[in-house]
Amino acid sequence: MFKLAPSILAADFAKLGEQIAAVEQAGAHELHIDVMDGLFVPSISFGMPVIESIRKVSNMFFDVHLMITEPIRYAEEFVKAGADGITVHAEACSDLKKTVDAIKAYGVKVGVSIKPETPISVLADVELDLDRVLIMTVNPGFGGQKLISECIEKVKDLAKHREKISATFDIQVDGGIGLANVKTVAEAGAEVFVAGTAVFRGDIMQNVQAFKEAVGVAD
Ligand code: DX5
Ligand code: ZN
Repeated sequence: MFKLAPSILAADFAKLGEQIAAVEQAGAHELHIDVMDGLFVPSISFGMPVIESIRKVSNMFFDVHLMITEPIRYAEEFVKAGADGITVHAEACSDLKKTVDAIKAYGVKVGVSIKPETPISVLADVELDLDRVLIMTVNPGFGGQKLISECIEKVKDLAKHREKISATFDIQVDGGIGLANVKTVAEAGAEVFVAGTAVFRGDIMQNVQAFKEAVGVAD
């Protein structure tokens, strides 16, 4: 499986509708929406009003990556705004199981993300309930960083572990993904690729196409 999830954090917000239409038309599989609270990560991005607006102009799967402290507080609002899937950070939840269960109860897909320093063992209580595990390949907070290559090993470990426990979550990676490394990361076992800079800088249609060619998929 290969899915590309362009991150709108790297879009030109003055042309957001147009650029979302371009990634959709180019055949990207999901839209990655990075929400930052200035507390869990140093940066602040955007919140529900933006998601509500773009929901009206796009049918893509909205993959909402919450980089916020105690995301359980806002899960329902993000679902109402139009999220199809919500990914929270294990490090940001005082009760991860309760948070995952709450998101599932709203009827959307649920993912858990871990930062580069966080071991996959923190997923133990929830791993059989998840639709997705997001391995951060940079420290969350900013687009345009360089992929931390040690994280590729973590993807391999997670893929092995998933098989061992017969879990069904997909493996997503986020941060510094581009044409130069997408194939290696795919071979390590990642299936869903977030890319901000590498999609939105330059020609969006060509960039999406180049990603598909780099991993050898037709659609
Ligand atoms: C980082 C965000 C990423 C980021 C990816 O905190 O979660 O989604 O926007 O951007 P690039 O692809 O530019 O590293
Ligand atoms: Zn993200």
